[in-house]
Amino acid sequence: MDSRIVPVGGTIGILGGGQLGRMMALAGRSMGLRTVVWDPAPGPAGEAADHALWRPYNDTEAFDAFVSLVDRITYEFENVDYDAAMRLAAVRPVFPPPELLRVSQHRLREKDTARRLGLSTTPYAALQTVDDVSRAVREVGLPAVVKTVQGGYDGKGQARASSLEEAVTAFHTLSAQGVLIYEKRVEFEREVSVVVARGENGHVVTYPPTENHHFNGILDYSLVPAAVPQTVEVELIRQAEALADGLKLVGVMALEFFVGRDGRVLFNEMAPRPHNSGHWTIEAAFPSQFAQHMRAVAGWTVSAPRLLAPSVMLNLLGDLFMEGLDRLPDVLTVPGAALHWYGKSEMRPGRKVGHVTVVADTVEEALDRARRVKALLGGGWNDGP
Ligand SMILES: Nc1ncnc2c1ncn2[C@@H]1O[C@H](COP(=O)(O)OP(=O)(O)O)[C@@H](O)[C@H]1O
Ligand SMILES: [Mg+2]
Repeated sequence: MDSRIVPVGGTIGILGGGQLGRMMALAGRSMGLRTVVWDPAPGPAGEAADHALWRPYNDTEAFDAFVSLVDRITYEFENVDYDAAMRLAAVRPVFPPPELLRVSQHRLREKDTARRLGLSTTPYAALQTVDDVSRAVREVGLPAVVKTVQGGYDGKGQARASSLEEAVTAFHTLSAQGVLIYEKRVEFEREVSVVVARGENGHVVTYPPTENHHFNGILDYSLVPAAVPQTVEVELIRQAEALADGLKLVGVMALEFFVGRDGRVLFNEMAPRPHNSGHWTIEAAFPSQFAQHMRAVAGWTVSAPRLLAPSVMLNLLGDLFMEGLDRLPDVLTVPGAALHWYGKSEMRPGRKVGHVTVVADTVEEALDRARRVKALLGGGWNDGP
């Protein structure tokens, strides 16, 4: 297998056709990297890539076509087929290594791996049978969050429990989807994420911790720099670097953490790809998480990111645009606002269809501008900054 770095004009294959693939393709294109997207279903990456294959991952013709077109391969979300990634890895370099897919596709494996590599997590236990529930309640404690270990995202496949009865109910509600993880609920002060990049030569760089606010289980807005003390920031970055090194990351990965009221930093989950909470890096950092990812995947140098301005990123969900898009350009009347639209074919409630990033001289001003963006879009559609 040819492991030379990808030349300018070379091609990166992207498994997955969503907005992350779209933003990877756009970032790659500006550096002379071509892209080919492969996804069973058409998605917004298609418009930005040089070529798209909308075929199942077990389609052998699509496999051959994809391989013949690309120098190296990456993926834009962690639920792409692991077996397909492994088959591809036999003939082309796949970055991040498919092992990161295997780990991040399974919440128990993910937390076990994180602990083995020196990260801290909330106490947790596996639930295989209903008998495991009472033991978990006793040993891990209450209140708890019960989650499917596979396939969950945006808060889906989760239930909260404050008593043994509720935990049993959660088990019965979710167990048809396989093994569950029972986690002690964290009384966190803040949720933060860290985007970390690692090059093929082992050089690791991190973006400043980002503060995340969810609404209905979906990321609502992110702001940077996060309001965490220096000691917490140091620990967040230590844990992010330990995971990136331990897993031999090549590319960009994001880690989600809880920061407790006592300043404790607890790892929650990882995504071996650019992350929604890093979208602000397109305007407010150099290089963006997408450019950094493409650089690393191509075998090029990753560089220590520079934060250019405090910023707030707001997600735009399909709910907002069921009745038309007329108001959307109005957000650009707010100074420092940048609009990103993914061009999805369907505007479903809860579906991420775009985002707005605002930059400013201070976090307060960025938050103020983000509120103005929300008000222009009709406000009141969720919690908001
Ligand atoms: N153990 C926990 N304690 C407190 N809150 C939690 C816990 N696990 C999840 N949550 C909340 O639910 C959100 C979604 O859970 P997460 O594990 O990140 O799954 P996903 O983002 O894949 O849906 C988190 O961002 C957090 O707000
Ligand atoms: Mg999450």
